[in-house]
Amino acid sequence: MCGIVAYIGSKEACPIIIKGLQRLEYRGYDSAGIALQQGKELNIYKTKGKVSNLQDFLEGKNIEGTSGMGHTRWATHGVPNDVNAHPHYSESKDLALIHNGIIENYAILKEEMVKRGHTFVSDTDTEVLIHLIEDIQLNEKIGLEEALLQALSEVTGAYAIVLMCKNNPDIMYAARKGSPLVIGVGENEYFMASDATPIVEYTKNVVYLNDEEIAIVTRNNGFTIKNIQNQLKTPYIQELELKLEMLEKGGYDHFMLKEIHEQPRSIKDSMRGRLNAMEGYIRLGGIKEYDQKLINANRIIIVACGTSWHAGLVAEYLFEDLARIPVEVEYASEFRYRNPVIHETDVVIAISQSGETADTLAAIQLAKQKGATIIGICNVVGSSIPRSSHAGSYTHAGPEIGVASTKAFTAQVTVLSLMAIYIAHKRGTISDSRYHQLITELDCIPDKVKQVIDNTNEQIKNIAQSLKDAPNFLYLGRGYNFPVALEGALKLKEISYIHAEGYPAAEMKHGPIALIDEKMPVVVVATNQSAYEKIISNIQEVAARKGRVIAIVNKADNTIKELAEHVIEIPETEEPFSPLLSVIPLQLLSYYIAVYLGKNVDQPRNLAKSVTVE
Ligand code: G6P
Repeated sequence: MCGIVAYIGSKEACPIIIKGLQRLEYRGYDSAGIALQQGKELNIYKTKGKVSNLQDFLEGKNIEGTSGMGHTRWATHGVPNDVNAHPHYSESKDLALIHNGIIENYAILKEEMVKRGHTFVSDTDTEVLIHLIEDIQLNEKIGLEEALLQALSEVTGAYAIVLMCKNNPDIMYAARKGSPLVIGVGENEYFMASDATPIVEYTKNVVYLNDEEIAIVTRNNGFTIKNIQNQLKTPYIQELELKLEMLEKGGYDHFMLKEIHEQPRSIKDSMRGRLNAMEGYIRLGGIKEYDQKLINANRIIIVACGTSWHAGLVAEYLFEDLARIPVEVEYASEFRYRNPVIHETDVVIAISQSGETADTLAAIQLAKQKGATIIGICNVVGSSIPRSSHAGSYTHAGPEIGVASTKAFTAQVTVLSLMAIYIAHKRGTISDSRYHQLITELDCIPDKVKQVIDNTNEQIKNIAQSLKDAPNFLYLGRGYNFPVALEGALKLKEISYIHAEGYPAAEMKHGPIALIDEKMPVVVVATNQSAYEKIISNIQEVAARKGRVIAIVNKADNTIKELAEHVIEIPETEEPFSPLLSVIPLQLLSYYIAVYLGKNVDQPRNLAKSVTVE
């Protein structure tokens, strides 16, 4: 969380930084700020609110300067206000810092510095770090670079930082540990950012900093990378595959709607080169060297957070049903702190859109130490989780910018489906004919997703209008569609702020049924062929209590029509792939409800897309 962007070169820095901050706003949007080197001054401009508030604040001010850095914040230490916004000055105001992450020992460091006469104006851990750097520099009479290295070895926690110094306008320092930072290498100009999105329109050449590395970036003499033990490192310059149009709304009102509509393409992209239904093969190049580990795994442990955790739950059904391997799906945040039992024969699959989620990253580091094989299923190429995994498969959904995840989820489920079918076939737990049946159907999923979007969009708009004022929702599903119910409820909560709960349909009678009355919409995913009769019984139970049933079905029969207020029909598919279709109406429903309620769909309050704090 928190977005960082910095520039040093010969162009005006401010417009580049502001545009970059807008691209990074998905990382947090409580406050925004910028530091500009202006002649002999290092000036900071910052304000509460979004980047647009910062733009208003800068209106009419002198914003000239060819080096600078900007930050968009997701508050951890201290409320979102002007003072807690980044950048932060050191005691003398000669240095300024932006930071993403958490300095865990900030309180002790602050207390010691207060005793030595430091004055802090904010509640942030970031201000403590910049004071510490200067304190070391002055007390030990050493250069800034040395002081930075020393300070970084004294702090615990996570950071991605950029540091500027008033008296040295031609150098900027960047460093990372646990939080991402990428350097864009242009022609006599450099960019530093939390991800490549602010950089892509200026250069395709980037260097991803590794943990505990610092970059010393100069205006005229290139850049060098060192580790915090002061050893020089050879930078590995990579070429970006990202394209600018991937970062724009392309005519849609919101990124979320664009991303929902992109799913036929993004699902296809996640299968491209991996599935050939005609020739009958699945190839997963990224796990090739480790596929024996998966085939022979005694257990698969899936670690993830949020929507990715829901994709993990679908994978539990996939791997157990098809490949007959026991699966545990864990919230990464719980797993890492409960001294889990991990064996060398376990395969840990980490699922993460961003590839940066702090808890998921820590969970795989723990599992790796204990000897497990780690497979990453991530969307952002070059992010931390794939780099910390033994093997993996990118989801190739393209950049997901709406904070509420949509296309990343379906891409994750697609890749996990490919993996489960591939492993099941190798293990002999599915027959050749079942294998061919499954891959032939998987190949049709992008077209069926398109049919769902085309056929249900208008109907769902109307349903959303009629349900938008309900204060609570219940989502029910069974089997493969139980995780879909959870995901539907999460989508609604995230962007409309309506309380919603997802439940296994049969479990409803153990509590949530008490909530059902004529005001309660109950969204039931009833597409499972195997448990259809049972789901109908669950719908009967809701209808008997006058709940407002919205049923997602394959074909509306008379019973459903009588019981439900709304029936949404979607195409049939093999049951293991039904989440890929049934989740689409739920995404659309939450989207339109949020739009009707006038909420900020792409940047819902309090949330951030990339959660790099635990
Ligand atoms: C945040 C996002 C969610 C996402 C979760 C896990 O909460 O708002 O959309 O599902 O983090 O993120 P990851 O990048 O690991 O999938």
